[in-house]
Amino acid sequence: MPYARITGTGGYLPPRVVTNDDLAADLATRGVETSNDWIVERTGIRQRHIAAPGTKTSELATHAARAALENAGLQADDIDLIIVATSTPDFIFPSTACLVQANLGVGGAAAFDVQAVCSGFVYALATADAIVRAGRARHALIIGAEVFSSILDWSDRRTCVLFGDGAGAMVLSAADEPGILAARLNADGRQQHILCAAGNVSDGKVTGDPFLRMDGQAVFKLAVNSLVRSAHEVCDEAGINLSEIDWMVPHQANIRILNFISRKLGLPEEKLIVTLDLHANTSAASVPLAFDVAWRDGRMKPGQLALLQGVGGGFTWGSVLVRL
Ligand code: UT7
Repeated sequence: MPYARITGTGGYLPPRVVTNDDLAADLATRGVETSNDWIVERTGIRQRHIAAPGTKTSELATHAARAALENAGLQADDIDLIIVATSTPDFIFPSTACLVQANLGVGGAAAFDVQAVCSGFVYALATADAIVRAGRARHALIIGAEVFSSILDWSDRRTCVLFGDGAGAMVLSAADEPGILAARLNADGRQQHILCAAGNVSDGKVTGDPFLRMDGQAVFKLAVNSLVRSAHEVCDEAGINLSEIDWMVPHQANIRILNFISRKLGLPEEKLIVTLDLHANTSAASVPLAFDVAWRDGRMKPGQLALLQGVGGGFTWGSVLVRL
C-alpha cells in the first residue's frame, strides 16, 4: 500500500484587513461595545481579513488551490481527488469542491465537501490520506475555505469579534515513505448546541437561526480536554513520544486554548504555530493557513514531525500526525 505525503501548500486571505480598533469603531455605530484590549487579552486576536460582500467561498478556495498546486509543481489535471472543508459553501449544491474544480478548468477527478466546521480540514486530510493509501488517488487537493463573516451576527459581541475569512490548501501525493503517520477523528453530536448555526432554507425561506451561536466557555472546556486526549491518542497510534513533535499546528481559536494545550502536553510554546493574531479564527481554513505560513517561511523542514489539530462545532475534533 502506498503512503501519502504533503507535497505542496497554499493560502489565500481576502485583501481587506479589519483591526480590532476598526471593528470596535464599526460595532459602536451599531450600539455594540467592545475594545482592542478585551479582544487581545481574552483571545490573542489583533486583526482579521474580511471578504468583500458577495465573495464566494469557492473564490477563496480556488486562489489557495492554485498556490498549493504551484508549490507542489503540479497542474490541475494531475489532481484526481478534491476535498473542500467548509461550513459556508457557495450553494446548497453543487459542492464547493465541484465549483473549485470548474474554476481550475478541469473535470474527471472525484470532488466533494466535508462538513466538520473548524475540524473540517483535519477530517478532509485524514479522508484524503485513506483514499490515497488505498491506491484510489495519486494526488489529492485538500482545501479548507470559509467566508465565515457571512454567518456572523454583528450585534453579538461574544462571537462576531472572533472570526475571519480565508482559505488554505494542501496537495497530498502517493509516496513510498509515510507522510501522514496517524489520524484520529472524533465527534460528540450530543454537544451540537454549544456551537452551531442552526438554520436552513425550506420552501424558499430561511428557517431556524442562520447565525453562528456559541457557548464560549463550554466550547473552551471541551476543546482543551478533547485536544489533549486526542494528541496522546494519535501519538500512541504512531508509536511517537510527544517530545519528538517539532511543530503543533492547532486550530486557531484562542491563544489561551493553545497555550493551555501546549502546557498540558509539555510542549514549549516555541513549537506552536500561531497565526490567530493576524487571521483570527477562520474555521476550516485555520489549520492549512497556519501550516502554509510556517512551511513557506522555512520554520518547518523536511523530516520534522508536525501535529495538526482541529476542534469545533458538531461537536467535532481530530488530530493528524505528519512527517514533513
Ligand atoms: O472555532 C471553534 C472553537 N471555538 C473556540 O474554541 C472558542 C472557545 N471559547 C473562547 O475562546 C472564549 O470562551 C471566548 C473568547 C469566546 C470568551 O472568553 P471568556 O473569557 O470565556 O469570556 P466570557 O464569555 O466569560 O465573557 C466575560 C465577559 C462578559 O461580561 P460579564 O458578563 O462578565 O459582565 C462578556 O459579556 O466579557 C464580556 N464580553 C465582551 N466584552 C467586550 C464578551 N465578549 C466581549 C467582547 N468585548 N467582544
